[in-house]
Amino acid sequence: APADRFSAELSTPFTFTLHNTDASGARRGVMHTPRGSIETPAFMPVGTQGSVKAMTPQEVEKLGAQIILGNTYHLFLRPGHERVQQLGGLHRFMNWRGPILTDSGGYQVFSLGELNKISEDGVTFRSHIDGSKQFISPEISIQIQQALGSDIMMQFDECPPYPAQRDYVANSLELTLRWGRRSLAAKTPNQPGRALFGIVQGGMYADLREISAQRTLEMGFDGYALGGLSVGEPKALMEEVLSYAPAFLPADKPRYLMGVGKPPDLVMAVERGIDMFDCVLPTRNARNGQLLTRYGPINIKRAEYRESLEAVDPSCGCDCCQNYSRAYIHHLFRTNEILGMRLMTLHNLHYYQTLMAEMRQAISQGDFAAFKANFLHNYFAVTE
Ligand code: GUN
Ligand code: ZN
Repeated sequence: APADRFSAELSTPFTFTLHNTDASGARRGVMHTPRGSIETPAFMPVGTQGSVKAMTPQEVEKLGAQIILGNTYHLFLRPGHERVQQLGGLHRFMNWRGPILTDSGGYQVFSLGELNKISEDGVTFRSHIDGSKQFISPEISIQIQQALGSDIMMQFDECPPYPAQRDYVANSLELTLRWGRRSLAAKTPNQPGRALFGIVQGGMYADLREISAQRTLEMGFDGYALGGLSVGEPKALMEEVLSYAPAFLPADKPRYLMGVGKPPDLVMAVERGIDMFDCVLPTRNARNGQLLTRYGPINIKRAEYRESLEAVDPSCGCDCCQNYSRAYIHHLFRTNEILGMRLMTLHNLHYYQTLMAEMRQAISQGDFAAFKANFLHNYFAVTE
């Protein structure tokens, strides 16, 4: 295929360089992919169905995002990975030139699909769109992710629910290990530019996390994710897992905490040595009027903002805060105007990308602990 602005040179290897580790444990680095570099710690805006809801890719890029996330499950069901491939791949389809990480579908099958039946071979489920019977295996997941043109693929895994019995979690992680091996085997060889990450499971059990990590590492993935968190467990439990699990992972590979989280969760996890995050929170909450500010979240629909001439966050440099008042955003929300969704999403994503940039700078300067203390002091300063 002729080289164009959406093609990737897959013979150029995916690499991760660790620049420095702060005394607190926070790491700064950079991932190199054929479609561009990603400074870490990084937050990946979620573009589930080939769009970061309400944003153009150019807007997402301008916010500073260097990578976005796409979903195997959704794009497989609609419009279909073969159609996307025939149309030139997901990057061209959606007009995003940078790297895309795709989740494998396992997690979404469990959270969205109905009547899913899990077997050694894979997962049978009913589409949440038309109820049709569908099947995804590790091999099919990798085939879909490659057809989409993913830059960072995720292994097919089972994400156990919370709470789950120890026996269930122990058996589940063994299945995830076997699916990991099959995911690796299914990847087209001689494409080192396309990364494949393993996923560590093990629920809230430290010894199971360690077993899962050790055996996932032995398989030799390009990066490692912690899965099975942010599944409804108490906040303290996720913190507990993050107090030991990152140490089971190699220092020289990127570490990805899947599906997390709120701003204080990101700061806590970066301090624990996590490099990558994704979460629907900034985009989804924006559409519900939940906006992030230096002094914590606010809900713009509240009557107290009806006549406020202040910006959503007076300290924010985004196009929403630079040009519009809380009163106007409140009005757009109340009248359900599309522009409101766009401006609120823009603001929340700007908040997340700015937070990541500030954390990267603090790590470089070696004062992450001070950054964290200041951040938390402000974030929890005001409650509505
Ligand atoms: N997103 C959030 N958690 C998970 C997980 O455990 N596995 C996968 N594949 N995706 C996730
Ligand atoms: Zn703003």
